[in-house]
Amino acid sequence: AEIHFHEFVVQATQVKRLCRTQEIITVNGQYPGPTLEVRDGDSLVIKVTNSARYNVTIHWHGVRQRGTPWADGPEYVTQCPIQPGGTYTYRFTIQNQDGTLWWHAHSKWLRATVFGALIIYPKLGTSYPFQTPKLEIPILLGEWWNKDPIDVLRQATFTGAGPAVSDAYTINGQPGDLYRCSSQADMYLHRNADTVKIFVESGDIVHLRIINAALNQQLFFMVADHILTVVGADAAYTKPFTTRTLMLGPGQTTNVLLTADQTPGRYYMAARAYASAQNVPFDNTTATAVLEYISTPCKPNQGFPSIPTLPLLPAYNDTATVTAFLAQFRSPATSNVKVSAGIDENLFFTVGLGLVNCNPGPQCQGPNNNTRFAASMNNVSFVLPTQASLLQAYYQGIPGVFTTDFPAVPPIVFDYTGNVSRALWQPMFGTKLYKVKYGAKVQIVLQDTAISTTESHPVHLHGYQFYIVGQGFGNFDPTQDTANFNLIDPPNRNTVVIPVGGWAAIRFVADNPGVWLMHCHIDAHLTWGFAMAFIVENGAGELQSIEPPPPDLPQC
Ligand code: C2O
Repeated sequence: AEIHFHEFVVQATQVKRLCRTQEIITVNGQYPGPTLEVRDGDSLVIKVTNSARYNVTIHWHGVRQRGTPWADGPEYVTQCPIQPGGTYTYRFTIQNQDGTLWWHAHSKWLRATVFGALIIYPKLGTSYPFQTPKLEIPILLGEWWNKDPIDVLRQATFTGAGPAVSDAYTINGQPGDLYRCSSQADMYLHRNADTVKIFVESGDIVHLRIINAALNQQLFFMVADHILTVVGADAAYTKPFTTRTLMLGPGQTTNVLLTADQTPGRYYMAARAYASAQNVPFDNTTATAVLEYISTPCKPNQGFPSIPTLPLLPAYNDTATVTAFLAQFRSPATSNVKVSAGIDENLFFTVGLGLVNCNPGPQCQGPNNNTRFAASMNNVSFVLPTQASLLQAYYQGIPGVFTTDFPAVPPIVFDYTGNVSRALWQPMFGTKLYKVKYGAKVQIVLQDTAISTTESHPVHLHGYQFYIVGQGFGNFDPTQDTANFNLIDPPNRNTVVIPVGGWAAIRFVADNPGVWLMHCHIDAHLTWGFAMAFIVENGAGELQSIEPPPPDLPQC
């Protein structure tokens, strides 16, 4: 196993997108940030220097951080932020994970522009459980605003209204050909000099490692005329299956094989919104990149290349396609799935967006001008501490930072996805954690609600990969739905998409001590309080107890 050293300098950088130059926060001046490439079993040492004017932390999304909870990264959860001028070195090892993960800022909305791929190849001496690809290509889907994302956040948080929708999606940092400046001379050519191009030769097998790094939007992804074979998701392999359309929630990754088996030419790969909520404004634009066969002939009598074919993306509200796609994920037989029938912690968490009543004013500009948005789990809208991180407070026994009374079940039983009166549900605000014993077998049913509007939510758990043993629409039925759980070959992921107006059930064994955040990976919802955290208590042995914090851990 190797140790990889990296330096990340978080800094303000001028970039030009959508015809205007704008200052954004980047790592090492790159957008997207640097790609990290490792093998399973390798270690990473990443020195992060904050040369920007905002506080920052970096999270290694999907890395389990077994034995290294201080390196996880969410601000005020496992560390205080790195202040301007400060540094912090993250040290961790990849243990039994293969596939595609990513890293991103976990501080305010900085991850809009501060993110990059983390590619994990099989252990030295082992290989993929599929044909070795000729090309390995990370595809990072992002979301772009023509203003500072921190200001977008401020507007969403402090006015109580929804965030401004983005101005573009991006593929590897570029919006692509369908966005053009009106003044651009070559507009009729339908191309943009900055559009990302991927070159292939006929017959090549290409491994696309697709990451949804968008801030607030679930996304469809397709490549025109090419069938994709899904081989992995998050950091685990899947039983291969073919599809034309992918859907990724923010936080999720999907590995696919593409065979360059079409007529040599130019084909768009494209990403567009899957917007499950009713009447919520969203960015309805399409990002593109070009898949180009090197042998593509120039059309006779034409001095320029032909217009690439655009895939026919599903409608923004095509939940049927999403459901059919997600239902196909299975762990491969070789992954040795062990989902025990017994459960020590049987948890049921309602999730949802709500409207809190407020007195009309500048901070109360949600619907009807007497509400503002809040989001909650089991009626608790999560509040981050500021005086110490949760992990520090737990490890050092600092009182008054959190309480451990997060409810195991919702405080009120009601028809979750039916007609819910708003008066019924005003969340309480608090920093409530849920404590589980080392080694406990945990099941969580995540139930969407219609408190404000039903919506599909990508829920991410830090520190673990879990099995998705079931999902469905409507209210979870403990008897009937439990009987249909897949305990044989459920997919193994770190982010689960809860179906719109439905539920998803996950299982994991709490074998990684620490404080671990669980939250909606739509940042608007996280900001409104759609989060909670688990304390996983110490066990008795190596990797079973929390090590002391590293000496350079930032202080609040
Ligand atoms: Cu990728 Cu807590 O996040």
